[in-house]
Amino acid sequence: MNDSSAGKSNVTANIAYDDLREWLVRAELLGEVRNVKGASWQEDIGLAAEAILREENGPCVVFDEVPGSPKGFRVLLNMFAGVRRNMTLGFPDHLTKWELSDAFREAYLKEQKPIPHEIVEDGPIFENIITGDAIDVTKFPSPVWHELDGGRYIGTGTYSITRDPEENWLNAGAYRAMVHDKTSVGMLMAAGHHATIHCEKYFKRGEPMPVVMVLGGDPLCFFYGGLEAPYGVFEIDVVGGLRGKAMKMVKGKITGLPFPAGAEIVLEGYVTPEKRVMKASPGCMPTCASAGTGSVITKAVAKPATNRLMQRKWGFSVDCESAACASMAPPRDYLVEPEVSVPPRKRALKRSR
Ligand SMILES: Cc1cc2nc3c(=O)[nH]c(=O)nc-3n(C[C@H](O)[C@H](O)[C@H](O)COP(=O)(O)O)c2cc1C
Repeated sequence: MNDSSAGKSNVTANIAYDDLREWLVRAELLGEVRNVKGASWQEDIGLAAEAILREENGPCVVFDEVPGSPKGFRVLLNMFAGVRRNMTLGFPDHLTKWELSDAFREAYLKEQKPIPHEIVEDGPIFENIITGDAIDVTKFPSPVWHELDGGRYIGTGTYSITRDPEENWLNAGAYRAMVHDKTSVGMLMAAGHHATIHCEKYFKRGEPMPVVMVLGGDPLCFFYGGLEAPYGVFEIDVVGGLRGKAMKMVKGKITGLPFPAGAEIVLEGYVTPEKRVMKASPGCMPTCASAGTGSVITKAVAKPATNRLMQRKWGFSVDCESAACASMAPPRDYLVEPEVSVPPRKRALKRSR
């Protein structure tokens, strides 16, 4: 760019969707969505991810009728590519990637004004509520993404919400999650990340950490869950600021933690230090495949009664495997970070030493 307006943008941002379903309608209108039926979670979806995630304009793919999962339990792959990247961030289709970057900085980063979320009584996320032994997360079509993955990753386009037990602030962070069994999933929280700080505080007090894990949510909340917001700042309130209106959230009946009323799938429960089972998991970044990393997942034996799974009718499991994690290999600092086992509702933490 060689004119004096380089780096500036007069484009007004307008985020035109409130949840994943509204986002998908807009992505379909852009002609960037492909629907695929019958692909396997064991191999096909991971292979498709390898094929499309490195492409600048790779399609968004919705996988349905995955063998082993009920019809309508879908996996959405590749949210952030093509023109839908502009739409996701609230900008016109015609902006180039460079212009999009400028517009983003002008609209959102110059002056950040978070808007506190609003607690509402009810929302579509409460359409299906499953508790206790009825929970079965293996029903979701979570793929094995890479041939050396330690298991099925239900949470790659996920974010988890926790509260600081001493200072009371909320955090949302993108922490990957692997299915362990019907009622447990592993969640990886790297050292220094805010959920880890929260967790350490709970454990020091001898208490389990309450957590809600959003699987299948608004792409913007996931995007901000993966960004380093300052200590004490709730990413969902930042997203409210971007939208110019408060995010509507409901409270989990078990933990009291808030989560978006329009989320697709939410797991609620606790991370607990008790009763861990060690489980090896090779992983790239560090939960998916990369040979011989020796990263470890600990597994909690879930305590019943507080388990809760909430799901909108025909819920989405969103997986946003970015190109960056399609096939990373060691050495990487992530690979020596702690792995935390989080059942959907009872979880344990273990740091690799
Ligand atoms: C797609 C994606 C996957 C991620 N997976 C993990 C993960 O498994 N564990 C982790 O600690 N951080 C992961 N991160 C990075 C954190 O989400 C990011 O550093 C975030 O800012 C951490 O939350 P915090 O700022 O609230 O501490 C991931 C980020 C992205 C975008």
